[in-house]
Amino acid sequence: MNELTRADITASVIFQATLPPPGRVMPRDLDVQKAVHLGEDHFAAFGCAGCHVPRLPLDKNGWI
Ligand code: HEC
Repeated sequence: MNELTRADITASVIFQATLPPPGRVMPRDLDVQKAVHLGEDHFAAFGCAGCHVPRLPLDKNGWI
C-alpha cells in the first residue's frame, strides 16, 4: 500500500504515453521475409491474433 504516489503514477503514464510506437525490423533475406509473412498468416488463421492484436489504431474503436 502507498508504494507509489499519484505523482509517480502520473510520471509513469506520461513516460509511457510519450514513447514512440514500436517499430518492426524486417530481415533483408527474402526467404526469411516470406517465412515471417507465412507465420503471420498462420498466427491469424489459428486465432492467436484475436487476443494478440497486431495493431491498435488511435481512433475511437482502438481505445475500446
Ligand atoms: C484468449 C486470448 C489468447 C489467445 C487466443 C492466444 N493468446 Fe497468447 N497470450 C494471451 C495472454 C493473456 C498472454 C499473457 C499471459 C501471461 O503473461 O501470463 C499470452 C501470452 C503469450 C505468449 C508469451 C508467453 C510467455 O511466456 O511470455 C506467447 C508466445 C503467446 N501468447 C503465443 C500465442 C499463440 C502462438 C497463440 C495462438 C496459437 C496465442 N498466443 C493465442 C492470450 C491469448
